[in-house]
Amino acid sequence: MRKKIVAANWKMNMTQGEAARFVDAFLLDIGEINNVDVVIIPPFTAIARVTEALGRAHNIKVGAQNMYWEKSGAFTGEISAPLLRDLFVHYVVLGHSERRTLFGETDEMVNRKMHAAHEAKLRPIVCIGESLEQRDKGNVEKILSTQLHGSLAGLKPKELQETVIAYEPVWAIGTGRNATPAQAQEAHAFVRHTLAEMADKTTAERVRIQYGGSVKPDNARELMSQPDIDGALVGGASLDPRSFAQIVKAARNE
Ligand code: PGA
Repeated sequence: MRKKIVAANWKMNMTQGEAARFVDAFLLDIGEINNVDVVIIPPFTAIARVTEALGRAHNIKVGAQNMYWEKSGAFTGEISAPLLRDLFVHYVVLGHSERRTLFGETDEMVNRKMHAAHEAKLRPIVCIGESLEQRDKGNVEKILSTQLHGSLAGLKPKELQETVIAYEPVWAIGTGRNATPAQAQEAHAFVRHTLAEMADKTTAERVRIQYGGSVKPDNARELMSQPDIDGALVGGASLDPRSFAQIVKAARNE
């Protein structure tokens, strides 16, 4: 049984004060969290404040939205895996489609970051997904396969098992148009099948695959009840503590 994992990707939003208020409201609303992993992924500037506000809520982890693959040195403007560990960060999003399209990240760059993250004991959440044009041309599987092989190259089975994959169809991100549960399940099953080919069946069965793209309180439960959908990476709807709490509750089946 894979434990579900629900993550709040705040993108370039939330001041320190807003982040602290979010955490207070979210903790009040959510109560006990036992059978689902929850991750809050603020901008770098609010990470320390979120950790502080979480206090003893140790079962909620903090993530970062990106990192560079070198450990330290003359890389102005970049943040490394050891610097994130220093802030008690547990997860890092790699290869989000906004990084790929707006900042030119390639599968090869994502792969270097993957290796650096694992070396620092950070758990990567690696994002993959097709554009609408690629879907319309019938290229979904080809794109997913290329992204998986490129970004996961050289990982050991144990590292793969500690990697979270987020299937985020680009046309569903921030558009209000989510993939249907059936479309998402089909893509997730293909991802798991590809992982089994790249590693082995046991490894593939253990990897958690999140769905991302316009996840909201009213579609979360149906999406996450699909057999190969193991959680959600939530953007817009994660900026409101109540709606994010509802999505987490949908994952724990209430
Ligand atoms: P969205 O973003 O929920 O606002 O569509 C998801 C993401 O980009 O991770």
